Amino acid sequence: MTVSIKDLTIAVVGATGAVGTEFFRIAERRYAQLPKIKALASSRSVGKRLTVGGRELVVAEATEDSFAGVDIAFIGVTSEVSRRLAPAAVAAGAVVIDDGSAFRMQDEVPLVVPEVNGADVEWHSGIISIPNCSTTPLVVAAHPLHSVNPIVRIVAATYQSVSGAGGAPMVELREQAQDVLDGKPAKTEAISQQIAFNVIPRIDQFGEDGYTFEEQKMRQETQKIMHAPTIRFSATCVRVPVYVTHCAAVNLEFENPMSPDEARQLMREMPGITVLDDPAHDAYPMPWDVTGTDDVFVGRIRQDTSHPNGLVMWIAADNLRKGAALNSLQIAEELVARNCLKPDRAKRVKSGAGS
Ligand SMILES: NC(=O)c1ccc[n+]([C@@H]2O[C@H](COP(=O)([O-])OP(=O)(O)OC[C@H]3O[C@@H](n4cnc5c(N)ncnc54)[C@H](OP(=O)(O)O)[C@@H]3O)[C@@H](O)[C@H]2O)c1
Repeated sequence: MTVSIKDLTIAVVGATGAVGTEFFRIAERRYAQLPKIKALASSRSVGKRLTVGGRELVVAEATEDSFAGVDIAFIGVTSEVSRRLAPAAVAAGAVVIDDGSAFRMQDEVPLVVPEVNGADVEWHSGIISIPNCSTTPLVVAAHPLHSVNPIVRIVAATYQSVSGAGGAPMVELREQAQDVLDGKPAKTEAISQQIAFNVIPRIDQFGEDGYTFEEQKMRQETQKIMHAPTIRFSATCVRVPVYVTHCAAVNLEFENPMSPDEARQLMREMPGITVLDDPAHDAYPMPWDVTGTDDVFVGRIRQDTSHPNGLVMWIAADNLRKGAALNSLQIAEELVARNCLKPDRAKRVKSGAGS
């Protein structure tokens, strides 16, 4: 029998969060028939009612006992909670698709963006991770170019929206903006510095090398997803006062020269990318337009005047959708399509994996 998403029982841990909310929005538009859904969150949300695809879901507390009969557990919570719940979900027979950073760099955990390395789902042993929301758009844009002309170095500066840190910072941005406009001091809680009318060149803690953990994650995750451990990489990750959609200014250095026209053509042919690159008519991707869409948008593609083999571009994607919820759902679709939903059906062999 051919299994499809509607035949599954799924658990959504973090059902009340920014990613969980977007997850349900996408699922109800994407599937004519929804799977059976268990909505799970913290004890604070027990009894809360969510309407998904006309169906009422009552939120239950996520515990180690929540996963009996679950085929796929989508986990979108803190790393600490993921580390506690994911093994329990796997022990109950579910495949975990985890949004956080808890497992991403573990050797036995595939880190997957389906358009780039969908075949990596075949060697899972119960847990599959999705990347950080700033890594995903970058690898989608880089992949079709790298496939024909290997990338040797990436320099990226990100412009990351507040929703990348969850639902609470979105509320904080609004409240701070109102306070500043009213001439009052801005209260900071969810984000460490004032974000309203400001930009913060720090996301996460600083490491010993002066890069933040967010910047280190972007480097390590890009190398893992692209199966390219030798790509040299430097990122500066910046929080900006935008609700949703992460952007990045990216310099790519290739082994050989590549023209902007060739890059545009290669990206146009890649599913999941929209090239929006007509500066003469002020057409380039911006968060206000990109939010709520599924694709990775690329514009401002031009020769890097500092390097003969370099290109510069501007990349934007909805961090709650392609950066999180949509990517998770696409991984589930990949698992179903490749018939490796259960770990015992998966090949568990890394060699030869990768698309
Ligand atoms: N936001 C993004 O763009 C993005 C992108 C990629 C990955 N991620 C990752 O996705 C995860 C969720 O992010 P988010 O933006 O949705 O965060 P969020 O808006 O802060 O939501 C957090 C969710 O986790 C739940 N939760 C908190 N403590 C819990 C516990 N002890 N047990 C069970 N559930 C608990 C919350 O439930 P209550 O409502 O009951 O507190 C809420 O549903 C994070 O790991 C993040 O790194 C986020």
